[in-house]
Amino acid sequence: MHIAVLPGDGIGQEIMVEALRVLEALALPGMQLSHADVGGVAYHKHGHPLPSETVVLAKSADAVLFGAVGDPSCDNLERHLRPEQAVLGLRKEMQTFANLRPAKMFPGMEDASGLKPEIARTIDIVIVRELNGDVYFGQKGMRKTADGLREGYDIMSYDESEVRRIAHVAFKTAMGRGRRLCSVDKANVLETSQLWRDVMVETSADYPEVELSHMYVDNAAMQLVRNPGQFDVVVTGNLFGDILSDQASMCVGSIGLLASASLGEGTKGLYEPIHGSAPDIAGQGIANPSAMILSVAMMLRHSFGMETEAVRTEAAVAAVLAKGVLGHDLGGNASTTEIGDAIVAELS
Ligand code: IPM
Ligand code: MG
Repeated sequence: MHIAVLPGDGIGQEIMVEALRVLEALALPGMQLSHADVGGVAYHKHGHPLPSETVVLAKSADAVLFGAVGDPSCDNLERHLRPEQAVLGLRKEMQTFANLRPAKMFPGMEDASGLKPEIARTIDIVIVRELNGDVYFGQKGMRKTADGLREGYDIMSYDESEVRRIAHVAFKTAMGRGRRLCSVDKANVLETSQLWRDVMVETSADYPEVELSHMYVDNAAMQLVRNPGQFDVVVTGNLFGDILSDQASMCVGSIGLLASASLGEGTKGLYEPIHGSAPDIAGQGIANPSAMILSVAMMLRHSFGMETEAVRTEAAVAAVLAKGVLGHDLGGNASTTEIGDAIVAELS
């Protein structure tokens, strides 16, 4: 088990420390860790947010643990040198096209949700976000219109093979759960979405046990706060998935609780919290490491087939929340280290 450890920027550094303590507490045999720079940290040290050594390491490892990237001191750099490009580049280089973002209510955390407790209690969703295409990776640029006005553009597109492969991941995910799949698109306006919808319908023939439904993204955003309990698995494109997963996180109480797995065709994956580098609180030791630790659990499950250890880790995070050891994001005052200590204590 060779794991590439890329803490990145801001709170990424702090939460990674706790994630590695959890891995140590699990005492898994045959684990090898290799560290590398990514994001703003890498830019300042090596002149590029995604140095080639980091790419080589990430591609040779069995799994990548990724903290966060984003550094305000890089905001005025050319786009290809900005920290965010590092995670996009890694997702593309590793061909991790399927991003699983589970959003599940932790018992006892209902009051932290922006929703009414009785509605919040019903949340148990997996968002399957396509990660290698869409407007994120299309042609983009700045140009001048015929009238000499500045114009920015980003092309949105999916070809059918890209939609088909994410559809299979989504249907398989639904097969392992409640067998309901909601495909979110904007087919009333976008051709990209019309193709998306057509391919979802075609692929559904291979999964007769799964009930497929479709929803426009604006309605999905509304339904997510009105009645989130109606969703089991949601599959959507890169941009809509980015937005809906942040929204889902606040429905379960805090973005500090949501983990993600980015997977390709094999077992190799990139695991990261869905939150960013949070420069406003970086260095204060108050970030919630739970999402990073839950990402470790996802790595154990998806890359190493260690379901028992994954469940143990998730149970430890849930137990610590249930005991009221809450970070600042959840209205408590436990520090990053105190939350890490409590989770490690649960595990041992
Ligand atoms: C996410 C983030 C990234 C994204 C950024 C940092 C490029 O918001 O993982 O959700 O937009 O995918
Ligand atoms: Mg996002």
